[in-house]
Amino acid sequence: MLLKDFISESSSALLDIYPAEEARAIVLMVCEAVLGTKSYTHIIEPATEVPQSRISELGGLMDRLRAAEPVQYVLGHTVFHGLEFKVTHDVLIPRPETEEIVEAAIATAGRLAAAQVEARPLRVLDLCTGSGCIAWSLALALPGSEVVAVDISDSALEVARGQEFGSLLSERSARAPEFVHADVLDLDHVPQWGSFDLILSNPPYVMDSQKPDMRRNVLEHEPALALFVPDDDPLIFYRAVAAWARQLLAPGGVGFVEINDLLGTGTEDVFKAAGFTHTSILRDFAQRDRAVSFSR
Ligand SMILES: C[S@@+](CC[C@H](N)C(=O)[O-])C[C@H]1O[C@@H](n2cnc3c(N)ncnc32)[C@H](O)[C@@H]1O
Repeated sequence: MLLKDFISESSSALLDIYPAEEARAIVLMVCEAVLGTKSYTHIIEPATEVPQSRISELGGLMDRLRAAEPVQYVLGHTVFHGLEFKVTHDVLIPRPETEEIVEAAIATAGRLAAAQVEARPLRVLDLCTGSGCIAWSLALALPGSEVVAVDISDSALEVARGQEFGSLLSERSARAPEFVHADVLDLDHVPQWGSFDLILSNPPYVMDSQKPDMRRNVLEHEPALALFVPDDDPLIFYRAVAAWARQLLAPGGVGFVEINDLLGTGTEDVFKAAGFTHTSILRDFAQRDRAVSFSR
């Protein structure tokens, strides 16, 4: 079978799940992963054939995609902040919007380091870490820092610990994050781990009532534990993060949380009510409320 025919037939088969451009991009990603082709191979070399020996493997992957399984789970990895992360059904697929709080934290880390009188490792806490995308990105971007990350899901922690950044760690003289099991909502047992210069969290924030607006690939395949909060208490995780930060944020330290864009002001108010005197809402390129920063 010609590669160009495989791409066009397979893309059409996904049209009931994805818009045309996204369906095509997904099929091209699969071809690149399995066949080593580029997104333009079928255009510049239209006679390229799909080797007979790979047809059944590709067919198996296409069956999973047709069942609305996200391409990142099908391939087992995704790119976040320029790093390749392993993903399984136990973890949320890292989203590009989360890179914004990572970038903001890295910029803040630069300012904090410049203001330090005595050099010491910067300490970072990531609450609700999932795949570990925030924790690993910061550990690798801030060599010398100590990163602690928590999640309630043991299977997510296993994925986070198993990310393969060994050679990057040595290249950058960086330290791997420590991944710890903890329930962020259990405010009677906030661990006394000393203070942190940066606290980040991308907690569950999608309201149950938003489920009808979500696509099958998310709703049927990503872990509900990572996504949903009840409509009658949608800011439950932010109150918990604020309570952790009241105990654990160092003087001069800064926190960043990704937020539900429908609840920007309410989320900022949680941090104001918890005594953080400096708060602000960070907006994305489309002017949607994306994150809240807080400090005292
Ligand atoms: C939205 S996902 C974020 C994952 C990752 N930080 C990211 O940005 O891709 C939220 C994570 O919170 C975890 N979680 C849910 N309830 C929790 C709780 N009570 N305590 C700690 N972690 C929790 C889930 O297991 C999930 O990994």
